[in-house]
Amino acid sequence: MLAEALSRIGADVAATFDALLPVPGDARARLYEAIRYAALGGGKRLRPLLLVATAEMYGVDRAAALRAACAVEAVHCYSLIHDDLPCMDDDALRHAKPTLHLAYDEATAVLAGDALQAFAFEVLADPDHFGDPFVRAELVLVLARAAGPAGMVGGQALDIAAETSTFDLAQVTRLQQLKTGALLAAAVEMGAVLGHVQAEGRRHLRGYAHDIGLAFQIADDLLDHEGDEGRAGKALRKDAEAGKQTFVSLLGADRAREQARLLVDQAIAHLASHGAEADLLRAIARYIVERDH
Ligand code: IPE
Ligand code: IPE
Ligand code: MG
Ligand code: MG
Ligand code: MG
Repeated sequence: MLAEALSRIGADVAATFDALLPVPGDARARLYEAIRYAALGGGKRLRPLLLVATAEMYGVDRAAALRAACAVEAVHCYSLIHDDLPCMDDDALRHAKPTLHLAYDEATAVLAGDALQAFAFEVLADPDHFGDPFVRAELVLVLARAAGPAGMVGGQALDIAAETSTFDLAQVTRLQQLKTGALLAAAVEMGAVLGHVQAEGRRHLRGYAHDIGLAFQIADDLLDHEGDEGRAGKALRKDAEAGKQTFVSLLGADRAREQARLLVDQAIAHLASHGAEADLLRAIARYIVERDH
C-alpha cells in the first residue's frame, strides 16, 4: 500500500508542479529552469503524501489536495535550496544531483528559493484553486506559521546556534520540532482544513503529526550518522563534523532509535478513533523510521 502511494504521489506532484510552473519565453527562463530543477528533481514527497492521505480520509477531491500538497512541497524545496547554500550547510549533493547553487549559481539559488516560497502562497490564495475563501485563508495561515520564524526558519536559526552552544535534550527537541516538525504537521493540518475538520476535531491529528515530526528528524539524524550516501543522495556525516547536537549525539544511536520507535507507536495510538481510512497515515508513520533515505 505504501510503496504504491509513494510512487503515485511522486508522479502526481511532478505533474502538478509541471503544470503550475511553465518556463516563460523570456530572460526569466533560467530562473524557472532552476526552480524546476529543485521542485521536480526528486525527493520522497512525504509532506504531499501526508497532506493527501489526511485529505482523503475526509473525502477531499484529490486534484485540490494535490495543489495544496504542492504548496507545502514548494516551501520544503525552497528550504532545502537555502539549507544547502555555502552560508548554511554548504552541501554539494541533493537528490543525487549537484545542489542548485552548483548546478546554476548562488544568486539563482537564493532567488529560486524566494520564488518557491511566494509561489506556495500564490497557489493557496488562488480562488481558482480553492473555492471557499475561509479554506484559502486558513491554508495560508497554517503554512505561513509553519514556514516562518515560529516554524521552519526559526528551527534553522536554532540549528545554527546549536553548532556553537550547548543544547540539552529539551532544546534539541524544540529545535527539531521547529526545523522539521512544523512543516510536516502543517501538511497534516492542511489536509484536515481541506476536509473542513474543525479545530477541535484536529487534536488527535495534531498529536499524530507532532510525534511523527520528531521521529522523522531523529531518523534523519540517524541516517546522517550511519546511513549510506548512495541511498541518501546527499552527503552524510555532516552533523558530527559541524559539531551539531542532535538526538544521536545526546543519546547515542541505539537510544535515539528506540526513542524514534516509541514516538511512532505513540503517533499511531493518536489515530485510535479511526478505522481503516487511517491505515495510510499509520503506514507513513512506520516508514518514517524504517526508511533508508
Ligand atoms: C530532508 O527532508 C530535510 C529535513 C527536513 C530533515 P526529506 O528527507 O523529507 O527530504 P526529501 O525531499 O525527501 O529529499
Ligand atoms: C534541513 O535539515 C532542514 C530544513 C531544510 C528545514 P538538515 O540540514 O539536517 O537536512 P539535510 O540533512 O541537509 O537534508
Ligand atoms: Mg541544515
Ligand atoms: Mg542540510
Ligand atoms: Mg540532516
